[in-house]
Amino acid sequence: MVSSGWNESAAAWIVEVGDLGDFGRRFVLDQPMLERVRLRAHASALDVGCGEGRFCRMLQPLGIRTVGIDPTEALVARAIALDPMGDYRVGMAERLDFEEQCFDLVVSYLSLIDIAQLGTALTEMARVLRPGGSLLVANLTGFTTAGMVFGGRRPRGADKHAGYLDEHSSQVSWGDISIRNWHRPLETYMKGFLDAGLHLRHFSEPRPQGGPPEKVRRYLKAPYFVIMEWTKPDA
Ligand SMILES: C[S@@+](CC[C@H](N)C(=O)[O-])C[C@H]1O[C@@H](n2cnc3c(N)ncnc32)[C@H](O)[C@@H]1O
Repeated sequence: MVSSGWNESAAAWIVEVGDLGDFGRRFVLDQPMLERVRLRAHASALDVGCGEGRFCRMLQPLGIRTVGIDPTEALVARAIALDPMGDYRVGMAERLDFEEQCFDLVVSYLSLIDIAQLGTALTEMARVLRPGGSLLVANLTGFTTAGMVFGGRRPRGADKHAGYLDEHSSQVSWGDISIRNWHRPLETYMKGFLDAGLHLRHFSEPRPQGGPPEKVRRYLKAPYFVIMEWTKPDA
């Protein structure tokens, strides 16, 4: 089961994000995500929810052998078209078709809010990591996802943080994209990582490094991303 809307939204998504990335990827997340990767010697990486493979293509010049998985066939097809020698497969985070301990690095780049069964997915990500390996995550903050209505108009007077403490999903739409996203409080995410046996190595709320001044000003007022690196302890 794919997060509802992804197959129908794939073409618009490819146009929206493109190779350069949208504001958040290009100016906020790409650089600090790559900095975390460069700090450790990773030979292999699995990008879970790789979309059209953008981050895999950014890891490869660092000498990392990448595999990207994503349940949205149209996005995997696009990844293969852009990188015919790359390894991209249709698959879901909740059931990773890989042996235990076979990756140095597992990446979830803005895919956790798309994944329906968080606990199962995090257990799977930890299972395929080798001891000492890293799970590197970029995610939206819970205060952003609590009342998410991208592109649409929030009803006048509606509280954008209503329901923060309760996990819920909502259909979010902007342009020709309409997808189902999951909101979870930070507590739920932290419990999921800890239950998967992982240790927190890094946590940051990255700031924009360039970009249109108006977007930078808005982002600094209410940042909406976090980066976390969790490691799997040596046995
Ligand atoms: C916001 S996009 C991010 C794509 C890519 N990581 C990027 O940053 O451009 C979220 C991705 O999660 C994928 N996805 C949805 N459900 C998933 C699941 N259960 N397991 C893995 N990926 C999933 C979607 O198909 C989509 O490509």
